[in-house]
Amino acid sequence: MKNLSIGMFDSGIGGLTVLKEVRALLPQEHILYLGDTARVPYGNKSPQTITKYALESAIFLLTKGVKILVVACNTSSALALDVLQKKLPIPVLGVIDPGAREAVRNTAKKRVGIIGTKATIKSGAYEKTIMKYAPEVSVLSKPCPLFVPIVEEGLEKDMIAELIAKKYLEDFKKADIDALVMGCTHYPILEDVIRKVMGKKIAIINTGRETAKDVKETLEKRDILNPRGRGGCNFFVTDSPDTFKEIGSHFLGENIRNIKFLKSLDYKDFLLSS
Ligand code: DGL
Repeated sequence: MKNLSIGMFDSGIGGLTVLKEVRALLPQEHILYLGDTARVPYGNKSPQTITKYALESAIFLLTKGVKILVVACNTSSALALDVLQKKLPIPVLGVIDPGAREAVRNTAKKRVGIIGTKATIKSGAYEKTIMKYAPEVSVLSKPCPLFVPIVEEGLEKDMIAELIAKKYLEDFKKADIDALVMGCTHYPILEDVIRKVMGKKIAIINTGRETAKDVKETLEKRDILNPRGRGGCNFFVTDSPDTFKEIGSHFLGENIRNIKFLKSLDYKDFLLSS
């Protein structure tokens, strides 16, 4: 069991910001990462569709033999974590709970902001989790859908990123929050511009970083931490491996290798093909 991989999935490349944090904390672990690049973005889709896609990704990774599953996508964590936790025989961690806890720890003013995709914000998952830990905290949340294509186009340093960040974040400045959760996998790439707009005093929460700590703790508790592996990653994508390689390498800050293209994520196809 200890030698098995950590399974992670996301709607596409965004989850690599989570993978980066998990690798930094657990360099000895091997990771299988699935990016559903054929069907990205999930953030504008319905809860039913997001849940169906999440189950398909999870089943695929299970068939590869993983010891833990990390839902490295805020939208999937917001809409499908409960179902995955109920259905799968291995521990399943999402990115919402760790991010919400860190926000609660970082707000002296008891005012937290959440930014994410439309589906994540509409689900109210962050609010519900924050309420569970600290009912006295008030939460202001807002979808920032244009942030995803800005990052996908590599425009995070362009003035357009700053203009859009100013527009999206003005309500949070007015509301005088002191902690802001980047509730979408892509947003850590925009952290500099978010910081510039929000100012130095605000705690900006990277949910991937917090999730990595939970992954480590869970593996330790269950005694399935790989004590002396060499680590490494294998990537699976459902479309455009070349684009994944190019933009993903930029996300990770290192060259991505070992990418396999999957024709379909429908689990009936795996059963037939294996
Ligand atoms: N990975 C998604 C998230 O964290 C963002 C991209 C998408 O909409 O699929 O919510």
